[in-house]
Amino acid sequence: MQHRPSRTGDGSWTLLHEVHGEGFHAREGAWTQALLRYARECRVRERAEELSRAGATRFRLLDIGTGLGLNLAAALHELEGLGLVLEVEGFERDVCVPLAALELPPEEGPAGPFVARARAALSSWLDAGAPSGAWIEAHGLRLSMHRGDARAMLSSLPLEPRFDAVFLDPFSPKVEPALWEVDFLREIALRMAPEARLSTYAAGSAVRRALHAAGLQVGLGARVGAKREGTLASHASGLPPLEPRQARRLRRPWP
Ligand SMILES: C[S@@+](CC[C@H](N)C(=O)[O-])C[C@H]1O[C@@H](n2cnc3c(N)ncnc32)[C@H](O)[C@@H]1O
Repeated sequence: MQHRPSRTGDGSWTLLHEVHGEGFHAREGAWTQALLRYARECRVRERAEELSRAGATRFRLLDIGTGLGLNLAAALHELEGLGLVLEVEGFERDVCVPLAALELPPEEGPAGPFVARARAALSSWLDAGAPSGAWIEAHGLRLSMHRGDARAMLSSLPLEPRFDAVFLDPFSPKVEPALWEVDFLREIALRMAPEARLSTYAAGSAVRRALHAAGLQVGLGARVGAKREGTLASHASGLPPLEPRQARRLRRPWP
């Protein structure tokens, strides 16, 4: 078994990677991180309300490192009652991760029904033989999982339709540097709708500079649990500003 179950501070479950030791989520709360760092920071509900008023019927999410499906469960939570279908293009290299997630105890409290739906959709995908890039419509979402290295596969996704939010949640730059490089981030940027936000827990200068070099505005992500800040990126202005010293670093010539 490569991944070990671990209960986090808010009672929700995550996995620990037994090879490099990183948790899949923050120790203080996996669900809290999914909801606050990803779904809320990307303003999923506000964007969805705007899209709905403009006549849209779906919300498009790019989910890099789908893992246990907790982040996509948080997006489902935010869309509840709006009548929009969540359409997710998810990238996951290791099929053992969603498989291990299906063995975890059910989540309790407000996360419960949404995590159950995300796990059920991942289970349908696994039952179908984990096809790469095939649409599965189940449990109130449309899901297309891309199985393999996101870096190698993302550029083959069409540029349209664009994504309304991006959850960038691979392992850390220390462990998984390729998914934080500017070429990959540029492929993401090309597929983001003008008002879409990308959120990530990473807050180092190298990641922020790479997002900026990829053509995005870069802003300060909120404190979530013990993590003092994260990073937001968008084509649109209006993100919470970085500290002046951090903002100056972005303007240094690249690389
Ligand atoms: C921090 S966990 C993500 C947790 C997940 N977002 C969730 O909500 O449960 C990182 C995930 O990225 C996946 N991953 C790592 N490198 C990858 C790559 N190059 N391409 C696609 N997925 C990758 C890992 O297998 C792992 O499931």
